[in-house]
Amino acid sequence: MAVLVSGGAGYIGSHTSIQLLEAGYEVVIVDNLCNSNKIVIDRIEELSGKKTKFYEIDITNGNDLEVVFKENKIDSVIHFAALKAVGESVDKPLEYYSNNLINTLVLLQVMKKYDVKKFVFSSSATVYGDPHTCPILEDFPLSTTNPYGATKLMIEDMLRDMCKADDSLDVAILRYFNPVGAHKSGRIGEEPSGIPNNLMPYITKVAVGQLECLSVFGDDYNTPDGTGVRDYIHVEDLANGHLKALEKLESHTGLVTYNLGTGNGYSVLDLVKAFAKASGKEIPYKIVDRRPGDIAMCYADPSKARKELNWEAKYGIDEMCEDSWRWQSNNKNGYEE
Ligand code: NAD
Ligand code: WQD
Repeated sequence: MAVLVSGGAGYIGSHTSIQLLEAGYEVVIVDNLCNSNKIVIDRIEELSGKKTKFYEIDITNGNDLEVVFKENKIDSVIHFAALKAVGESVDKPLEYYSNNLINTLVLLQVMKKYDVKKFVFSSSATVYGDPHTCPILEDFPLSTTNPYGATKLMIEDMLRDMCKADDSLDVAILRYFNPVGAHKSGRIGEEPSGIPNNLMPYITKVAVGQLECLSVFGDDYNTPDGTGVRDYIHVEDLANGHLKALEKLESHTGLVTYNLGTGNGYSVLDLVKAFAKASGKEIPYKIVDRRPGDIAMCYADPSKARKELNWEAKYGIDEMCEDSWRWQSNNKNGYEE
């Protein structure tokens, strides 16, 4: 029995695939490599010491996807495959709606045809919009402000409707906060294409000298130092949350929803300082205007996942920075080296 990992060559999917293989699962990865590199599959096998099966397909194509279900006995699916850049989604809404929604619809239809019931979905804290208070609980009101976030919320709504209609389904919606860090080996990590939008990859590119200076988007928020506060979570902790969610789905549950965050909020300047300590590199920065659409503060209450999944983030901000730095400094040009 195998776990199908869609988007398994990507940042979070690759770390999760390694942990699944190490835990003894059979892993079948499907990825069209639109935001990843085939070499990651070799590294997943190298780091786990296990073989995985890889199909380079676009999962919006149901015929290609069916081949995977015919050739393998799929027991459960973890669905990472999506386009994920918020700013790009504002400029190219049709690409985001069509890829993220259609690939999910096709995947769920093929699962239904092959009688696969267990589904873990990569959602995001973005579905909380601008929360009225922090820490954020799973039952806070949901809203979105950009097409990327809208695709996550639409898919969540679809999954809730499906589980209402069919009580044999087992679905875990995992809402990630801000994933950072990399595998301890420094062999896999996050490789954004072009100039990074997210804070940690921007900092690491400044640290290796590929970008000159970090722009801090606003220092006049209602936060302790005026810069935005987020719940950064190590990608290895996040990956482990997926294994715990799969275990949970073993005992029939219907639909469950969990925040995956540490519960700690760090400001932009906190992260800059922690990174300088971990890397020994000063990060030059300048304060600029707020980035449109940003919120002041966003951090999780992760106690539901702790109680019901027996999951808790182990890594702190120092290890997140050390591991991001090891990955970036060993792979200055990402997987292209
Ligand atoms: P990523 O871009 O590194 O990985 C996504 C993978 O999906 C890529 O390898 C890409 O090639 C693949 N893919 C995309 N569309 C596909 C398609 N139609 N068919 C086959 N493969 C396809 O992104 P990530 O950071 O690993 O994110 C994984 C998931 O987690 C995404 O759903 C994302 O929205 C969600 N998420 C990410 C973050 C974050 O900040 N990284 C935060 C919250 C939620
Ligand atoms: C973090 C903080 C910025 C870059 C995004 C998505 C969210 C989720 C995670 C997918 C903020 C500040 C950033 C920079 C800065 N992704 N910043 N200078 O915006 O919390 O979340 O990624 O689901 O949906 O919206 O993450 O890393 O972009 O920003 O000052 O160059 O860093 O203003 O306070 P964000 P981020």
